[in-house]
Amino acid sequence: MAALISQLSPSVTDMIRMDHSHVLETFHQFHAGNPPDKKAALVNATCLALEIHAQLEEEVFYPALRELASDVDIVEKSYPEHAEMRRLMAELRGMRPGDPGYDSTYLELMRNVLHHVADEETTLIPAAERLLSDRLQELGAQMTRRRLQLLGSRAPEVGWTAMRSFPEGAVLMAAGAVGAGAYLLNSATSALPRFWR
Ligand SMILES: [Fe+2]
Ligand SMILES: [Fe+2]
Repeated sequence: MAALISQLSPSVTDMIRMDHSHVLETFHQFHAGNPPDKKAALVNATCLALEIHAQLEEEVFYPALRELASDVDIVEKSYPEHAEMRRLMAELRGMRPGDPGYDSTYLELMRNVLHHVADEETTLIPAAERLLSDRLQELGAQMTRRRLQLLGSRAPEVGWTAMRSFPEGAVLMAAGAVGAGAYLLNSATSALPRFWR
């Protein structure tokens, strides 16, 4: 399994971009007129994906970059930005759709994430691709292994979120919560001889 992960994982920076675009797709589906169940499913999918993504960046990506980046400010400012996102997610998790401030808190989270993602994609990721070029694949595999562990430890929540998102099962996928798993599964499946499929 470890060898398969190393072989099939996207690079760390590609994986981060995939996570970002999946979360942005989830944001795109949230509308004030959505039924409460759909709002709750989108909020759960967003929070689950962002919590896992932020933890992966803090455990794998930022430390690797911090070792090499002379301008550590670009990494250091990411920690308080993650903290602010976690504060907003904790607020949302304590609310229900229809509560005053539910939609506006989600929109505030969205604004924060958009700003943070723009910084990462214009500054951190290009710096990483310059400074960590020979480690991008290895860090991607490390991030995938850790993602699978985190998803395993939150399996009931992952399943619940997927069910609540039904029939738009794409919501969970879109949130990136299972992005790496889906990527691995697709890659592994397409690598099999046709008669195995
Ligand atoms: Fe981040
Ligand atoms: Fe990120």
